[in-house]
Amino acid sequence: MIDKLKALQAEAAGAVAGAATLAALDDLRIHYLGRKGAVTGCLRDMGKLSAAERPAVGKAANEVKDAIEAVLAARGEALQRSERGARFAAEAVDVTRPGRRSHRGGLHPVTLVLREMLDLFVGMGYAVADGPEVETEYYNFEALNIPAHHPARDMQDTFYVAPGVVLRTHTSPVQVRVMETTRPPVKIVAPGKVYRCDADITHSPMFHQVEGLLVDEGVTFADLKGMLTAFLHSYYGPDTGVRFRPSYFPFTEPSAEVDIQCVLCGGSGCRICSGTGWLEILGCGMVDPAVYGFVGYDPERYQGFAFGMGVERIAMLKYGIGDIRLFYENDARFLSHFS
Ligand code: FA5
Ligand code: MG
Repeated sequence: MIDKLKALQAEAAGAVAGAATLAALDDLRIHYLGRKGAVTGCLRDMGKLSAAERPAVGKAANEVKDAIEAVLAARGEALQRSERGARFAAEAVDVTRPGRRSHRGGLHPVTLVLREMLDLFVGMGYAVADGPEVETEYYNFEALNIPAHHPARDMQDTFYVAPGVVLRTHTSPVQVRVMETTRPPVKIVAPGKVYRCDADITHSPMFHQVEGLLVDEGVTFADLKGMLTAFLHSYYGPDTGVRFRPSYFPFTEPSAEVDIQCVLCGGSGCRICSGTGWLEILGCGMVDPAVYGFVGYDPERYQGFAFGMGVERIAMLKYGIGDIRLFYENDARFLSHFS
């Protein structure tokens, strides 16, 4: 029995030395000293010994128990120390590390381009005007010489909000609102959002236009052409190709659309310019005398020109952006190019 106890002591000492965690150590304590443990079992078996054997075996058993308790305690302390050390190391704060940088936001490219455009127009003496995005058919169509059932209503796919009420399909209604409330000379630009049921790589259902209107005595198409060419050359550089194409709008006569040379392909033809080398950026023309009838201007005395520019198109050409949808996806990698 004593030999068995000594063997248990040696075995326990080896196992305790090999215990890697406090939890493993606890298991060993239960295995050797618990109520059903190996040493406790020996003590229980003492009842089977003779009275002469019992004192020596009892003494040995208690010594073995004490010895195992001592190695458990020592190992426990060592493990506790190293576990605490590891935790401290893991939780340590390195006060010498550089701090996290906070990100600096930037203006959205459409806002940026809109501001650059307005700066140029304000520099040319234009005032900035404003109008509602939810507009009546009267201002969006009728007063612009587009009566109901006029085929030109189909030129722009319109979102209707209620009978007679639309999301404006262009910024041109602001022309009418301004002329209703002011007398010539009028010289304004009107930036804002417009809406059309239209979507592909160069068309978006919501986009921005900058409307322009100048009405005075003796205004000619040459003034319009000279002013727009100057604007485009100062925005894109003096060597950029600009072309005026005859076009039709019910509220201008004569009318033109203006293209600039595609900056993405340099004019050789690509996906963005549908292989033509040119991209349409605005519509313009001389204010149709019929419009003056709606606002009480004397068409014999006043002439004027108007234009409407697509801001996203202008931005795409300025920055070489190949898909209009990038403006609305809010991908920070795209937006960060502009901050
Ligand atoms: C008009 O909206 C006229 N109101 C412009 C005008 C104003 C003519 C004053 C005469 C006098 P248009 O539908 O062509 O015209 O649109 C003008 C510009 O908006 C286009 O040249 C193009 O650059 C841009 N544009 C048109 N549709 C979209 C669209 N879905 N997404 C992005 N840009 C567009
Ligand atoms: Mg057009």
